Amino acid sequence: MRVVVLLGAPGSGKGTAAVRLAALRQARHVSSGDLLRAAVRAGDVAGLEADGYMQRGELVPDDLVAGVVARHLRLGAPAGEVLLDGFPRDVRQAELLATELERTQSRVHLAIMLDAPPELLIERLGGRRVCPRCAAGYHARAMPPAVADICDRCGTGLIVRDDDRPETVRRRLAIFNEKNGPLLAWYDARHLLRRIDGAGTADEVVARISEALAP
Ligand code: AP5
Repeated sequence: MRVVVLLGAPGSGKGTAAVRLAALRQARHVSSGDLLRAAVRAGDVAGLEADGYMQRGELVPDDLVAGVVARHLRLGAPAGEVLLDGFPRDVRQAELLATELERTQSRVHLAIMLDAPPELLIERLGGRRVCPRCAAGYHARAMPPAVADICDRCGTGLIVRDDDRPETVRRRLAIFNEKNGPLLAWYDARHLLRRIDGAGTADEVVARISEALAP
């Protein structure tokens, strides 16, 4: 398994880029946020524990989220490319991921950090609309659906994510700013870090990442 880690602040565009890259590269997109939201909806043990942290915009405990991601990785094909979106978020999670991948002689190929200025993050999160059924993501102005507030893929009414409320966004960004520096240093020390400009259209960002991943 060749694992590409996508790092970046809330709203930096990790999920949007990962969906497009997965289609282009026939890769598997694994989003820790989507897995946790699915667990919350299913009401399983992990979801019940994660729910409060997510509502408050705090990080779910490392071992809980690492367990959810590891179980999902083990379910998929052992070969091919995986785009990991939203995991790891701190050094402890990076270590747990490395240990999990060692089991199958896999490793992180590259950790890509999507850089974006704070005002762009706020603008993107403020306009985000998501489909509660199929998890497709939109932006009210930059990437609107064909029919206002209706999912192009499944016709369900779009919603604003609970944790995109301004006070929760502030907390998520503060936690990101605290955790991300040591995480970048961890990957940089292993010569695995590439920083990419996350501003511009989704096509432009995807083209930059594709170039970084080219052999
Ligand atoms: P998660 O769902 O992972 O949220 P996040 O990391 O905060 O990231 P976002 O989904 O907010 O942003 P994104 O970078 O994916 O941006 P997107 O592409 O959607 O996690 C949610 C919660 O789960 C966490 O707060 C935590 O509680 C928990 N959790 C998850 N993983 C965890 C972990 N590893 N450890 C502990 N807890 C964890 O884009 C945002 C908007 O901008 C969209 O509207 C999109 O349409 C638009 N947009 C994107 N790119 C562009 C572009 N290039 N041009 C114009 N608009 C764009």
